[in-house]
Amino acid sequence: MKDVLVNVENLTRIFDVSKPWLNRVIEREEKKTLRAVNDVSLEIRRGETFALVGESGSGKSTIAKMIVGLLGLSQGKIDFDGIDLSQPDGAEMRALRQRYQMIFQDPFASLNPRWRVNKIIAEPLRQFDMESSESDRNRRVEELLELVGMSAKDGVKFPHEFSGGQRQRIAIARALSSNPEFIVCDEPTSALDVSVQAQILNLMRDLQDELGLTYLFISHDLSVVRHMANRIGVLYLGRLVEVADGKELFRNPRHPYTKMLLNAIPDLDMTGRKVAPPDGEIPNPINPPSGCTFHPRCPIATEQCKREIPPIRNSDAGSVVCFEAVCA
Ligand SMILES: Nc1ncnc2c1ncn2[C@@H]1O[C@H](COP(=O)(O)OP(=O)(O)O)[C@@H](O)[C@H]1O
Ligand SMILES: [Mg+2]
Repeated sequence: MKDVLVNVENLTRIFDVSKPWLNRVIEREEKKTLRAVNDVSLEIRRGETFALVGESGSGKSTIAKMIVGLLGLSQGKIDFDGIDLSQPDGAEMRALRQRYQMIFQDPFASLNPRWRVNKIIAEPLRQFDMESSESDRNRRVEELLELVGMSAKDGVKFPHEFSGGQRQRIAIARALSSNPEFIVCDEPTSALDVSVQAQILNLMRDLQDELGLTYLFISHDLSVVRHMANRIGVLYLGRLVEVADGKELFRNPRHPYTKMLLNAIPDLDMTGRKVAPPDGEIPNPINPPSGCTFHPRCPIATEQCKREIPPIRNSDAGSVVCFEAVCA
C-alpha cells in the first residue's frame, strides 16, 4: 500500500512580470506573465525522500515555497496527510504548521545574524508554544545541537562564528525543533564544499532513519540526489517530465531530458562513458516554445512535438511526458 503524506495536484504558479504600469503604457507593451510551475502533480510517500531535480529556473523553489505555504497557488491543490492546505481553519492550520519545516540553500542568509544559536533553534518552539519552561527549552536545544553533531556549548555563540557546514547543521536543528514529520530541503548543500556536502547529506540520512522523516529534497544536481532519493521527479521549464524510482531513473532514464542530465554527470565509475554537457540553453520561460517545451533541445523531437503538448504516460515504473520515449 502506498501511504501518501503529501499529495500535489495540478499545481500551477503564474507570476506577473510586467513592467510598471506607466512604463508599459508609454512603451505600449502588453502585460507579461511567466508560468514558473505548470500543472505539476506528484505524491510524496511517508518516510521516503522524493527528489525534485532540474536546471536553475525550472521552478523547484517555487514548488517548495507553495508546499510550505510561503507562496500562494495560482491553480491546483496540495494535501498534507489528507488535509487540504488551501482551506484549513485557523486551529487546524496551526496544528499542521508544526508538522513540516523547510531548510534553505543558503545557511548564511537563513539564520538571523544577531541571534545566538540557542535562540535561533528555539524559535519554532516559541512560535508553536511547545516548551513551557525555559529550562525545558534549553534542554531541548542542547539535545538538538547534539543530534546534529554539534556541542551543547555552541548554543551561546553567534552564526558568524561557524563554518557553512556547521551553519547548515544549525538550520537543520532549528527545522527539527518542532518535531516535524516532513522537511522540504531546497538545495541544502549547494552552497557548501564537496567534502562538507557529503557530511551534511549523511547527517540528513541518519536523521531520517532515526526520526522517521519524510523529505522533499531539491537539487539542480542529479549526482547529489543519487544516494538520497527513493524517487526522483525531473522538472523542465515548470513541468514535471519524468517521475521514477531513484535506481530505475539512473538505470533506465526514459525522457530525453533526463538522459541529457545523466550524460552530464562526471563518470566517477570510470566506465569510459563520454560525458556530455547539456545541449543548448534553457528557453526564456516568458516565451516558452510551443508543444513540448523541450523540443528545441531534444535529439528525437518530431513535428508533433513542436505542435502538441505530450500527455502524461503512467506505468509501473513511474511516469513520463513525451511522445517518443519508450515507456516500458
Ligand atoms: N517572485 C517572482 N517573480 C517573478 N518571477 C519569479 C519569481 N520567483 C521565481 N520566478 C521565476 O520563476 C521561474 C522559476 O524560478 P525558481 O522556482 O526559483 O526556479 P529554481 O528554484 O528551479 O531555480 C524562473 O524563471 C524565475 O525567474
Ligand atoms: Mg531554487
